[in-house]
Amino acid sequence: MLLAPSLLSADFLHLDKDIQMLNRSEADWLHLDVMDGVFVPNISLGLPLIAQLSKQIRKPIDAHLMIVEPQKLIPQFRDFGTHILTVHYEACTHLHRVIMQIKEAGMKAGVALNPHTPVETLTDILPDLDLVLIMSVNPGFGGQSFIPQALNKVARLRQMIEDDQLETLIEVDGGINLETGQLMIEAGADVLVAGNAVFKSPDPLKTIQKIKRIQT
Ligand code: DX5
Ligand code: ZN
Repeated sequence: MLLAPSLLSADFLHLDKDIQMLNRSEADWLHLDVMDGVFVPNISLGLPLIAQLSKQIRKPIDAHLMIVEPQKLIPQFRDFGTHILTVHYEACTHLHRVIMQIKEAGMKAGVALNPHTPVETLTDILPDLDLVLIMSVNPGFGGQSFIPQALNKVARLRQMIEDDQLETLIEVDGGINLETGQLMIEAGADVLVAGNAVFKSPDPLKTIQKIKRIQT
């Protein structure tokens, strides 16, 4: 199981401190939430800030683009050294083309699904995906409550991946803590994103350790 803490819940006035903490932690990836105020009603991290962050972080960058026309930022995220670039299904008319462009740029490619979008809609593109991100909240903000229907989506997607003998990873994002993380892992998730559960806890390093100990 992999854990990707979401920097959205970090202390933005002391990002350096949180980045150093993550570098020392057992976290596997850094989850970067990028918002444009159009696809979602919020704006998060801008490109100049991400450029600086990416020089400090020692963990692979897992970038979650909650923006319209995400293909326009593929070269920038490649230059930041992004490991995996995830775009929203709902933001891409020509999803297959965008996925190919991400791969041609040398990154792994992921697709995120909003809570209302069924996993079955990915049937014909699943073999091309390195990761599917199931949103368990409506994207845009940290600290929201977990939407339980996401569990069934993860289980259905796990079945689709097994039926086709694929290696696509299932990542889950939104309202993940020790309890919901446990349920998601049991349903078949591979990667947990956690924002508030990590950064708003009294001891984030310990919390990361505890989440990493979740067993099926
Ligand atoms: C929401 C973001 C999430 C968010 C998760 O749009 O995609 O990554 O930071 O935060 P928590 O874990 O607090 O729900
Ligand atoms: Zn996210």
